[in-house]
Amino acid sequence: MKILILNGPNLNLLGKREPSIYGNSTFDEFFETLKMKYGNIELLYFQSNVEGEIINKLHEVGFSFDGIVLNAGAYTHTSVAIGDAIKGIETPVIEVHISNVHAREEFRHTSYIAPNAKGVIAGFGLQSYELAIQSFL
Ligand code: DQA
Repeated sequence: MKILILNGPNLNLLGKREPSIYGNSTFDEFFETLKMKYGNIELLYFQSNVEGEIINKLHEVGFSFDGIVLNAGAYTHTSVAIGDAIKGIETPVIEVHISNVHAREEFRHTSYIAPNAKGVIAGFGLQSYELAIQSFL
């Protein structure tokens, strides 16, 4: 089984960025523990701050992987193009968020990902990613 975790803008700053919302651990640290825990599956990770690179990655893996765990960051709330890319591929996508976006500002309540996603997991910290992986197993 092949699963890609795809992170969008500013998520490279995890561990430093607004730790009261996003926590203290870096994504690389967390990803290492995930890989050890789920050694029986092929787990890949890609992060970009660039909308088009996220779309290119969705196209690249979206016809061969078994699942995509996508935290599109702020693009979640703005990107028609990422929403369309998800519609255009075959691999199921789960939208994840570290924070509970519905308990935050109004603009974070809109998602261009959710209507095309298999499901949405938000508000469980980094565990949101793990819950998404488990749902693919
Ligand atoms: C986020 C929530 C988004 O609203 C925000 O823009 C992010 C992170 C989260 O994981 O909680 O960058 O996707």
